[in-house]
Amino acid sequence: MPLPEPSPPIRAILRARVEAAIPALHGWTSVDKGARLAELVLIAGAERSVELGVFGGRGTISLAIGHEARGEGQVLAIDPWEKAASLEGENSPENDDWWGKLDHEAIYVSFVQALDASGTRPWCRVVRLRSAQAVAEVADGSIQVLHQDSNHSEAVSTAEVEQWTPKLAPRGLWIADDTDWVTTQRAQRRLVELGYELVEDHTSWRVYRKP
Ligand SMILES: C[S@@+](CC[C@H](N)C(=O)[O-])C[C@H]1O[C@@H](n2cnc3c(N)ncnc32)[C@H](O)[C@@H]1O
Repeated sequence: MPLPEPSPPIRAILRARVEAAIPALHGWTSVDKGARLAELVLIAGAERSVELGVFGGRGTISLAIGHEARGEGQVLAIDPWEKAASLEGENSPENDDWWGKLDHEAIYVSFVQALDASGTRPWCRVVRLRSAQAVAEVADGSIQVLHQDSNHSEAVSTAEVEQWTPKLAPRGLWIADDTDWVTTQRAQRRLVELGYELVEDHTSWRVYRKP
């Protein structure tokens, strides 16, 4: 069954807020996707959402805007902003070259500034750890929306499915990024094996619902 939509006026408000907050930030989440992430927080009535892989904050701030609209909850922004984590597992040589040269600290600083500039800091908690470490700080069944956008290697993306599935509440939403990459296919197959239902397919990102 498809997910519901918020009313047109609410959708317009969320989109305007995302449009004002994220285009100038480092990263990849588009305004269309960011607006939908904010909507999904509302639709799921999320008390807690999570972004695995924050970078400059485009996705995290979009999720935070959803909590702001609800007047409740928080997004956990999980990212170590650390070169070794970006190079873990097997990725393409171009990918490793790009991440190997990146100033991770500068991206972290830009994210913290963006939280303040967008006014979304009250709706966000920053956890500067790898996803495999941060998972120990989160109670089982306590998340309603999770955006998986960290290291896209097969090893890390598949491990995250195993580690974070218990943290997602029943009927919780798992949003997978770069679903058209070869390296994310195993993680997606695992989601389906675990009984997740594909509820939205945006080609380069998908929304799955936990049973
Ligand atoms: C593709 S970027 C995230 C883009 C961002 N979500 C956006 O909306 O533009 C990937 C991020 O994952 C982070 N990362 C790498 N390994 C990670 C891990 N094991 N756990 C969490 N984050 C990780 C990197 O530091 C990087 O900031």
